[in-house]
Formats: sequence, structure tokens, C-alpha cells
Amino acid sequence: MAEQFDNRPIGVFDSGLGGLTVVEAMARRLPAEDIIYLGDTARVPYGDKSVDSIKRFSHQDVDFLLQRGVKMIVVACNTVSSVALPALKRQFPAAHLLGVIDAGVQAAVASGARRIVVIGTRATINSDAYRRGIHAVDPSLLVESIPCPLLVPLAEEGLGDSPLAEAVLELYLGGVRANPPDALLLGCTHYPLFKAALDRYFAGRVNIVDSATACAEYVAEYLTANALAAMPGKKSQSRFFVTDMHSAFPAHAARFLKRTPERVEKVSLEFPE
Ligand code: DGL
Repeated sequence: MAEQFDNRPIGVFDSGLGGLTVVEAMARRLPAEDIIYLGDTARVPYGDKSVDSIKRFSHQDVDFLLQRGVKMIVVACNTVSSVALPALKRQFPAAHLLGVIDAGVQAAVASGARRIVVIGTRATINSDAYRRGIHAVDPSLLVESIPCPLLVPLAEEGLGDSPLAEAVLELYLGGVRANPPDALLLGCTHYPLFKAALDRYFAGRVNIVDSATACAEYVAEYLTANALAAMPGKKSQSRFFVTDMHSAFPAHAARFLKRTPERVEKVSLEFPE
């Protein structure tokens, strides 16, 4: 039987630019896949909002991507994945929705660490999704969770590797540095921008685990299992949508994506243009 391919794009969304770290990993792992990215930059951060608001915003994000004919949606936001994914799956039962928490859990457990510190937004940490996920795999692991609400705005401002970032890391992680864990799990897709600062902060003694690569692998497996993969070798293209765009946007976005995003458009989710 002839193999079936599905060349429709994959939708990826985040509250802001952080999900571009997942897009970058997907582009490496799945070079034939077209990607449509949505960053809700007008309302970032989500992590300090109420669960009701996060559910409402993410419902609009999914709706927007489905209207553009995507074949699956990667929720490249830990905040949405941890507090709104079950509701989104109920609201959009026919959509193929994949969150990032399982990939993060898998990356943390695979690191071999016995003591793991998870950092994330306030909403992600309050949800306890990572601790529950890690303990579902191995209840003997020690897991501590620390909310770091100032990190997303710093990353969006392109200040991931700055003296200000170091001061904020000290504010949140001072106690951890005195008693370093085996691994620090970056439970937010914005946090890979702090890798260099974190390595310096812990003098290279802590394994910094980020889930973007594991997430891209999950997407690859999901596409194959559901006969959704694009034709191998096909030339791919990406489109980027944001709900707000300032003059420094291209430079800031390039830090996450490791290239300047092409074809960026500003859209409104609440007041269709
Ligand atoms: N990148 C999002 C995450 O992974 C940030 C969420 C937020 O806007 O607070 O959690």
C-alpha cells in the first residue's frame, strides 16, 4: 500500500516568544514540516493570570490555528499545558493537541538525576503538574518546585544573559545554589534563554535540562503514529503570527529561534480584523 503523507502545517503556540525554542528544535528534527506559529505577545505572560483567563486565551489560540488548517497543535507553553490542556481537549475533540509537560518529565527522568529542582511560571508550579508527572514515573525521586515569575518578562525583553537576570536568579535560586540539585528542569519554554546565566550561576555544577528537543521527538512520534507526517524531503515554510509587535521584535525573536523569523504578521484574537 502507498504510504500516506499529510503536508498540512503544524500549529504551535505560546503566550509569547518562548515557544520559538520548540519551533527551533522542531525545525531541526522535522525539516519537511510546515509550521504556523502564534505568539500571544499582547497578553504575555500567561503565568501570572488566573486559570480562567489562561483557559480563555488558549481557547482563542487553538481556534485561530485551526482556522488556518493545521493538522495538529503543539502547546509550546508549560503554563497552558499544565492548567488548560484537558479543557482544550474537551472543547476541540477532533484537534490533535500535544502539550509539553510529558516531554519535560521524560527529559528530567532520562537525565538520571535523583534530586530535581523544577522552575516555571507561578501557574505551572501551582498546578504541581511536573512533580506529579515525575512521581508517576519514579516516586523515589526528590522534586522541588520554584516559581520564577520575573523570568518570562526578562526573556521577552532579550535580557536572558544580563546582570539583571543574575540578580533575579539570585532572588529565586539563592537557596538552591547553597545546596545544588543534580538537575534543574526548565519548566517554561522561555527559560532556555537563561542557560548561559544559569551555568555561570551554578558554576557548571548543575545539569540544566530543557525539554525542547524531547518535545520535538514527541511530535515526530505522534505524527508517525497518526499518519500525519509530511512527505520526507519536501521543502518547508513557516509563518509567524503575533498579537502585538514592537520595533525590537525581530531581534528579540531571533534569540529564541536562532534565526530571524520570516513572514511575521500581527493579528487580533479578540477583535477579528
Ligand atoms: N513560555 C511559557 C511557558 O512555557 C510562558 C508562560 C507565560 O506567559 O507565563 O510557560
